[in-house]
Parts: sequence; structure tokens; C-alpha cells
Amino acid sequence: MARVADLPLVAPLLFSFAAILCACAGAPAPAPSGPSTPAAAPVAVQDPHSYAKPQEVAVEHLGLDLTVDFPRKQLAGRASLRLRNRTGASQLRLDTRDLDIRRVLLDSGTEARFTLGEPKPFLGRELVVEIAPDTRVVHIDYATSADAAALQWLEPRQTSGEHPFLFTQSQAILARTWVPLQDTPSVRMTYEATVRVPPELMAVMSAENPTAKSADGVYRFRMPQAIPSYLLALAVGDLAFRPLGDRAGVYAEPAVVERAAWELADTPKMIAAAEKLYGPYRWGRYDVLVLPPSFPFGGMENPRLTFATPTILAGDRSLVSLVAHELAHSWSGNLVTNATWNDFWLNEGFTVYFENRIMEALYGRSYSEMLAALGRGDLLETLEEMGADSPDTRLKLDMAGRDPDDGVNDVAYEKGYLLLRRIEELVGRKVFDKFLRSYFERHAFRSMDTETFLALLDRELLAKHPDLRAEVRQWVYEPGLPATAPQPKSDAFAKVEAQAQAFAAGTAAAALQTAGWSTHEWLHFLRSLPAPLAPERMADLDQTFKLSESGNSEVLAAWLEKVIASSYAPAYPALERFLTGMGRRKFLQPLYTALAKTPAGAELALRIYEKARPGYHTVSRQTIDKILDWRG
Ligand code: BES
Ligand code: ZN
Repeated sequence: MARVADLPLVAPLLFSFAAILCACAGAPAPAPSGPSTPAAAPVAVQDPHSYAKPQEVAVEHLGLDLTVDFPRKQLAGRASLRLRNRTGASQLRLDTRDLDIRRVLLDSGTEARFTLGEPKPFLGRELVVEIAPDTRVVHIDYATSADAAALQWLEPRQTSGEHPFLFTQSQAILARTWVPLQDTPSVRMTYEATVRVPPELMAVMSAENPTAKSADGVYRFRMPQAIPSYLLALAVGDLAFRPLGDRAGVYAEPAVVERAAWELADTPKMIAAAEKLYGPYRWGRYDVLVLPPSFPFGGMENPRLTFATPTILAGDRSLVSLVAHELAHSWSGNLVTNATWNDFWLNEGFTVYFENRIMEALYGRSYSEMLAALGRGDLLETLEEMGADSPDTRLKLDMAGRDPDDGVNDVAYEKGYLLLRRIEELVGRKVFDKFLRSYFERHAFRSMDTETFLALLDRELLAKHPDLRAEVRQWVYEPGLPATAPQPKSDAFAKVEAQAQAFAAGTAAAALQTAGWSTHEWLHFLRSLPAPLAPERMADLDQTFKLSESGNSEVLAAWLEKVIASSYAPAYPALERFLTGMGRRKFLQPLYTALAKTPAGAELALRIYEKARPGYHTVSRQTIDKILDWRG
């Protein structure tokens, strides 16, 4: 049995140093991937996570001129914000965090007065610029701090080559740590950027991108479609490009790019399937940047250039649903954008639904049902951990006063998915698809809040299903999972469960029928096993299926959860390798959480974390610090 064990993880030891107006009824949607899309009108509600007052004056275009200084871990230069002053306001309120604001100029050069407010945890400092009602452009000269939360500066040893690397992660409210702006998803702007990097490196952004290095290290970018600030992205490194068809491609470090291009070869088919489902792809090109292993997420839907973890490079294309997910965000999220982080399920629930439909179109219903069943299992586990009556298990969140990042869990994704699937099952797929297609078209380049969505759902889809209205509100505003939640059906998984039961009843691993199992069947098998298991049973599994050596990150992570639950010490070296070899929070979080449950586990966790922490991105550190009560 070699399926799950044949390829090594990417660079495993690399950092072994161990209301919205959105709805703006009637406003014409911009033309499909037209030359330039106007910035949409801002929403009328106050985003609890932004100091900005876009209903008074909104930023409609951003010009960036930045120099990337690796030795100082600093971006320095100028942000020029073009304003649309709707009310004749005399102050522009921006979000900043850990920025050194040096000078502010208006239009053609008069110096402006500005004040910085008191820093608040995760929100940062309000920047108030005195403007005139006819001020068109505000130029801000500034520099980032060495520990700006959005930025991760990698040493060459944390990459697969010999060069340093920088990437940004702006979602949810980290854009303000590298650009002073209106950091709320309810404001959209177009942007242009000039980025200066060491000449041996290449820069790419969530914009029109180069495919080769420039001679002088200067790169110019243009993003003609209006985007919210959380989709602003930059990466700088020794990058190579491989095309995948004529409108898709892959960027990665040279040592990784061939493998990445092979793994992601189905991307053009995914784009075609997505367009067939819900309308034209409106962003021009769709490329994927495969980052070094410390990237804290599976993927990030930066427009035109998805950022992805190398842990999806399993060598058998079995983890590409992540690309379907990030691609789907090109509609759900990037076209129709959650108005505030309390409406996060509108981004992620819709995207998981869309992702599943792309996977079904490409690989068939039995494949997509396995994915849906795994997602439902994750959700049930999350609900159990959070408590099914926790207010944070409602789809509509209340994150005011808290870091929106703390509201990110399976609820928005998987409960959101199940709600949409429930509606689909009741109204029929044909009707639901028509609704979604027109939803993406009519609200393209706009924000959407939960209440506006529910109103239009009532109007357009539930007129004939009045009893569903109350049920939908239960899903959205009540905690827990309604009893009507759909139950994905997988015959393949039923067979897997029988094998897990046989093993639990004493059958030897070698006698199990595992021939031909896909990654998803292995995952379901591992999750279906009882825990703890006796050391000799764990040894039997490991020796028979080579689980500790699996090159499939998902399988390895699922196995290592069992390893911890069973205190199976022979696999601790594999655990340590995994935890120090990548920084993807989705893998780190459950493993550290499981370790923290026993004193011996907590001790091991702290020993590993001490080594691994410097290589993790801030967002992963923040999560694990809490789990382990880390005080440095
Ligand atoms: N947009 C999210 C990542 C995100 C969410 C970053 C909230 C910061 C705050 C992205 O689309 C995502 O959902 N990524 C998932 C992968 C996906 C296949 C479920 C991840 O990173 O695991
Ligand atoms: Zn997502």
C-alpha cells in the first residue's frame, strides 16, 4: 500500500531552525471583464472593524509606490488615495496599524494636517487627514514596521531556493498593516502600483502580472477592477511561471514550479466549469501562486492570483478542490463581497457550495459527495468543540469588539454550504442555479449583507416556499445545526466505515480492503477509527500503510491527530517534522489543540513550538499562542 506514502512533503525541513447600498437596486453592473470597473457605492452601515466613514468620503482608487527592503523588513514609499467626497466632508478617516506615517500631501503638493488616534488591539490607529471638500488625491508617505502582521519575510532557508521571500495576507483586517486605507470590505477601489525589489527577484500582485523578471527590479501593476482592501496582495521572491492554457498559469519558486504545474493542470477545466455554472469569469487571467510552506492558509482568493499553500502538492492531484474553492471566490466574495466580517458566511458558505459544484462537474457526484461528507464531519466536530448553543455557531456573526479572525471556523463554510444545499434541494437545482447566476451578475462589484440577501431570497426564490423562510432564518440567526441539514450520501464511505469497524473489532491492518482508496477514503477511514488505540494497533496501521511517511498533507494530518489521541510516541518525530515543516493554520490548530489536552502532550507541544514559532506567520502564531498559553 503506497498510495498515501509516495511523495515527500514540500521542503519538510525548510524552516527547521527549527444595507447596504450594495443592493443598490437597479444600479447597472459593469460590463464583463471590461477595461475598468467603477468603484461601487459604499454601504450605509458602519463596519465595526474600520475607522473609515465611506458614506462621507470614499477612496475609489489607490496608487502605490513602494520599495521592498529585505534587510530592514520594510515596505516604504507612498500611497496616493483618490477620493470621492460625497458630502463635502473635511476629514478623511483611514485605518492604519503599526505604520510610520511620515507626511501627508494633498493633490499637487500642499502639506496636510493629520492626526493618529490611540492604537487599539487588532484595529490599530485611526488616521484622520484634514482635507478640503474638493480635495481629489491624498498622498501619504509611510513605512511599515518589521513585524507588520500582514507581511511575512522569509529567510532563504525558509524557501525552496537561495533567495528571500515576502508575501502579504490582507484578509481580514491586515491590509492596514501595510497600506493606509479604508480597510473595510464595503469599500471598493481600483489600484495601480510600482514596486521596487532586488533585481534577482520578481514581484506579483492581485493585479495584471509579469511572467518574467524585469532587468531593473521595478514592476508596474494595474488592477482595473474595483476590489475591497482585503484582496490587496503582493508577493516577492525568486519566481518562475508556467502557463496552463491561455488564461491560467502557475507561479512558484523554480524548484517547485514544475510539480505545481502538473498538480494544477485541471485549472482551465475548473474555470470552464465555473463559467458554465454561474456566468463569465470577470477578472481576465486566473493564476495561482504556490507559496513557501509557512503560508498560513490553504488558499487566499487574491483576484487574478490565488495564493496557495504547497501542502496541496500531493503528487496525485487529490487536493485540488482548494483551487476550485479559491476560483469560486472569483464570484462569491470577489464579485459579491460580504459587507462586513459579520457576513463572512456570504463569502465562504457560497464558495464551498460553488466549489462543490465545480468538483462535481469535473470529477462526478460520488467524488463531490465524499468532499461534502468530510466537510459535514468537520462541522459536527467544530460544533461539538464550540458547543452547539454557542452564539458563534450562528451564520450571521457578531464580531464587534473582537478580532474578525477569531470568527473564522467551519461554521461559515460548512453550515453555510449546508444551508445553500438545503435550499437547492427544496427549490430544485435548476431554479437555484438560475437564482445564483443572476445574483452574481446583478450584485457584481457590490457588497452584500445578510439581511439584504435574505430579503432577495424571500422575494426571488421563497415566494413559492413560504415555510422555508422561517427555517432559513433559523439557520442564519440561531446557533447549532438544524435537524433538516442535508446528509451527503457516499457509498464509497459506507464501505470505508465497514473497514474501520473491522479494524476496531480486531482485524489486522493488512487484512483490510483498502485497494484503490483515494485520499478522501483514507481521510474518512482515519477519522472513523476509535481513539485512543493501543500502541500495537497504531504500529500495525503505521507499518502497513506507512502513514507517518505520507506525502499527502491531509492524510498525514489526520493520522497525526490519531497519533496524539493515542499517545503513540514512535510517530512523534513525524509529528515534529510536520509541525516544523509548514505553517498552515488548519493543520497546526487541531494538532496543537490535541497535544495541549495532556500535561505530557503540552510539554512536547511547547518544545516543538519554541522551535517552529519563528517560522510561522503572525496569524498562525496568534492562534497557537492562545492554545498553548504562550508567553514567549
Ligand atoms: N478567504 C479564505 C481564507 C481566509 C479566511 C483568510 C478568513 C483570512 C480570514 C480562503 O478562501 C479559504 O477559505 N481558505 C481555506 C481553504 C478552503 C479550501 C476551505 C483554507 O485556507 O484552509
Ligand atoms: Zn474561502
